[in-house]
Amino acid sequence: MDNRPIGFFDSGIGGVTSIPYIMKMLPEERIIFYGDTARTPYGSKSPDTIQEFSAQIADFLVKKDVKMIVIACNTVSSVAIPMLRERYPDIPIVGCITPTAKEVSKIAKEGAKIGIIATRGTVNAGVYKKRIEELRSDVNVFSKACPALVPLIEEGLVDHEIMDMTVKYYLDDFIKENDIETLVLGCTHYPLIKKSISKIYPELEIFSSSKEVAKAVEMELKARDMLAEKKEGKDEFYASDLSETFVELIEKILGQEKDELKIGFEDLDI
Ligand code: DGL
Repeated sequence: MDNRPIGFFDSGIGGVTSIPYIMKMLPEERIIFYGDTARTPYGSKSPDTIQEFSAQIADFLVKKDVKMIVIACNTVSSVAIPMLRERYPDIPIVGCITPTAKEVSKIAKEGAKIGIIATRGTVNAGVYKKRIEELRSDVNVFSKACPALVPLIEEGLVDHEIMDMTVKYYLDDFIKENDIETLVLGCTHYPLIKKSISKIYPELEIFSSSKEVAKAVEMELKARDMLAEKKEGKDEFYASDLSETFVELIEKILGQEKDELKIGFEDLDI
């Protein structure tokens, strides 16, 4: 049993999409989230920069005495997990990619054509393709970087026609040319536009890394006997740039008013 909070982080708002799953699966857990909204997007930054930013955020979460660090960002998960595990060998660190790749590999039909959509950083790292193909040699994995999606989502343009146009711009040819049947949302921002994707491509089976990371957290806490017995205090959401859109999107994703949560600006010790 461990009643300390779980620390989550992302480059911005995206990582919040895994939190409703945690709240439902593990209602006694308290959450501390950090979104690096001042420096988002990470997807087109170099691995060195992403590692540097991630270390700063992990240090912030560790000072808040979290019992686990959840990297609710595929881009960071692609390039920074070994560095973070070395920095904090005694804190369990859960990333997005391995849990999602395992689930997709378990469920994919024989010969399935699987599309991964993600940031440029995640696609360039090639970790999704490698993990899935290690587990299933009979499937084909295709990847597509969609770099304009995260900035539009951070702007709150999730239900706007510009989003539908951008989705089509990236996905029309990708889906048609590769006969994609299964689509992996390999960026935690993308569940916010899942409706838009499903509306345009209703035949696609869609997997979300946000849900899989939440399931991995539950499994890891159970295995280590670290589940909380009682939620002590409010969930906390911090951002390096506390914009109105950040607060509005948190309210929308969690279905809670901002007064029910602790939301604040927090500068990192840089
Ligand atoms: N949510 C992050 C991810 O899962 C977005 C990265 C970005 O900031 O570009 O990759």
